[in-house]
Amino acid sequence: MKPLTRRTFMRISAGSVAAGASSKINLLEPAALRGAGRAVAPSDRVRFASIGTGTRGCELLDASLAVPGVECVAVCDLYDSRHQAAQEAVQKQVPATRSYKEILDRKDVDAVIVAVPDHQHRRVVVDACTAGKDVYCEKPMSHTVEDGFAIVDAVRKGNRIMQVGSQRVSSIVYEKARELYSSGALGEVFLIEGSSNRNSPSGAWVYPIPPDASEQTIDWNAFLVGAPQRPFDAVRFFRWRCFADYGEGLAGDLFVHLLSGIHFIAGINEVPQRAQSTGGLFRWKDGRDFPDVIETVYDYPNFRVSLYCNLNNSNQGGEPIKFQGTKGTMEILNQTLTFTPQDITPKPETYSTKGWPARLRNAYLARWATENPQPAPLDYQTTIQSEIFTAPAGYSDVSAHQANFFNAVRTRQATVENEVFGNHTAIGCHLANYAYFHKTIATWDGDAKAIHG
Ligand SMILES: NC(=O)c1ccc[n+]([C@@H]2O[C@H](COP(=O)([O-])OP(=O)(O)OC[C@H]3O[C@@H](n4cnc5c(N)ncnc54)[C@H](O)[C@@H]3O)[C@@H](O)[C@H]2O)c1
Repeated sequence: MKPLTRRTFMRISAGSVAAGASSKINLLEPAALRGAGRAVAPSDRVRFASIGTGTRGCELLDASLAVPGVECVAVCDLYDSRHQAAQEAVQKQVPATRSYKEILDRKDVDAVIVAVPDHQHRRVVVDACTAGKDVYCEKPMSHTVEDGFAIVDAVRKGNRIMQVGSQRVSSIVYEKARELYSSGALGEVFLIEGSSNRNSPSGAWVYPIPPDASEQTIDWNAFLVGAPQRPFDAVRFFRWRCFADYGEGLAGDLFVHLLSGIHFIAGINEVPQRAQSTGGLFRWKDGRDFPDVIETVYDYPNFRVSLYCNLNNSNQGGEPIKFQGTKGTMEILNQTLTFTPQDITPKPETYSTKGWPARLRNAYLARWATENPQPAPLDYQTTIQSEIFTAPAGYSDVSAHQANFFNAVRTRQATVENEVFGNHTAIGCHLANYAYFHKTIATWDGDAKAIHG
């Protein structure tokens, strides 16, 4: 436990839910990243390259600076200005190329970070595995069900280490949630809710297009590999998430984070059995293929999961996840987890006795009192006390997730989010879209590795 600063307290207040007057606040302490605070032996250094240095690629390069014992040795992107952006992010004039095959040919590269649009994940990851590189691949792992299984096969065949990039599974807040869930503090959980909401052009993927974007500065043909041919279109290149040729809309972009967090906390690693979706495109009618509101209910063997995304109101902000248990409710919002016990102190069931005559009601109450002797008043929990757990200001689950990957590269131990985990959550996204676009209940057939309507 660390004392709370005023800033931390303000942040917790913004992130906490259901925290009434009575709540206990705990500041979580991140584990030091391996090697932090001391020199890492040269033999222990991991040399990596980044393939795809757009928005996410640059964020990952920036976060890698906090991971001890790793070194970026080259970067790759189809758009020339992103070479410079990557060098700025990594604060070094590393070699830059448009061709990822050149990166894979380099002997000094142990591992690659793959942060290209989703339709290219399969090609780049399979080639990287074949070239003997370990892979950190951004979420969602696959663009299609077939792509996911091809990636799983390539990782196994190449005996590679793989991490999929839903960084929340490395967060100390999610680790605490997993601990609470498995301790039984929530009782039995039959319903889990999650959402991800935005209300801005960037939130709806209407990103500004850089003024130097052209066929001269971008390798458009390489971008199209794995997608239908079309003339150069900067909107498609920079706002690829809007189009089914390259992305999977809200499900692939945002449900994947919610599903990964839920699977991690609940300790499950499976595809949901079925999904039902509704939604619509109401506001961002710019030629996109995907809805701006989607709501999906998933069936798992022991609980149901209800998710939605709305690009037309940012709601609480963040990505709230709520586990509703018979003994308590656990909600995560931003970097804060709030656990609120349910009031389950024994009481007579008086509601329906309003329709009983007094003699029967009184007899029931008298009998209940005899059969349920009450503890002394002071032994009762008179107020429901929430417990809040929060990460310190500035905590980065992205660096923690990268550190987990790079440590696995060194030790050859499994990562926290390997290709099987990533495949399962990505299929969950494909189920949601299948149900939405086919207006049907989408069912997962694990034997056939296929979705049926
Ligand atoms: N984990 C997260 O929170 C998070 C956040 C944002 C994005 N992402 C994921 O990261 C990936 C990239 O998203 P983004 O927002 O950075 O997109 P982006 O469009 O900003 O960047 C993608 C870059 O990949 C490059 N590229 C495409 N094909 C390539 C190839 N064959 N070789 C080399 N470079 C290639 C493009 O030139 C582009 O610059 C996506 O899978 C996305 O879902 C994850």
